[in-house]
Amino acid sequence: MNRRYRKTIIAGNWKMNKTLSEMKAYAEEIHSIMPKGKWCETVLCVPFVNIPSAVRLFKDCHISVGAQNCHYEKSGAYTGEVTAEMLKEVGVKYVILGHSERRQYYNETDFTVNKKVHAVLEAGLQPIICVGESLEQREAATTMEIITYQVKAALAGVPSDKMRRVIIAYEPLWAIGTGRTATAEQAGEVCEGIRAVIRKLYGARIARAVTIQYGGSMNAKNAHELLAQPDVDGGLIGGAALKPADFTAIVQAANQE
Ligand code: 13P
Repeated sequence: MNRRYRKTIIAGNWKMNKTLSEMKAYAEEIHSIMPKGKWCETVLCVPFVNIPSAVRLFKDCHISVGAQNCHYEKSGAYTGEVTAEMLKEVGVKYVILGHSERRQYYNETDFTVNKKVHAVLEAGLQPIICVGESLEQREAATTMEIITYQVKAALAGVPSDKMRRVIIAYEPLWAIGTGRTATAEQAGEVCEGIRAVIRKLYGARIARAVTIQYGGSMNAKNAHELLAQPDVDGGLIGGAALKPADFTAIVQAANQE
């Protein structure tokens, strides 16, 4: 982290978990234990249907609400889809885009991710753009080529003045939901590489202000070490965000470092 230049953001990605009643119980529990963060911005990205209730339930403990996807068009015949503007109106601040599960199961491509980044920025929201290499790509020593391409493709056509709202999440595929975390050095190295890509595209001043998160089996135990890396500015947390105690412990780690 480097709080002098950029925000630390801890975001939970609930994926397809928790009903409304389960979310209510979670909110009640987290309310009493949530640290009053001086520096760290805290976000929970919940399933679409629960967004309006989440905005109301988490307001008091200063947790912003995010979505896990959106469509790139402004309206139209796209059965089952949701626009960025719709999300904004119900109180969403952040939208996860290009998560590897969406790339894998729903044919999300670098091209559609880029279109969604534009839609989210145009709606005044903050995209959390996920990038990451597979195990085969890491073993073939192509990690930085893959990541560079994903970052460049996602940001194609994004003007400098919108970059202060962009967040990048480095999520190595082999670390998602596997219990296997990237080492702090691996996470730090790739996040530093991502910042270098942004520096080449937008210059040093903008690059140093962009929040770059790590995601992939981040938990209360490993959060300190990962967040101690100068270019790791927070986390995108799956499993450990489903339990209030685990999630708040990570927020605590982000506030202490
Ligand atoms: P886990 O923390 O469960 O590995 O999930 C990470 C993730 O995919 C966050 O978007």
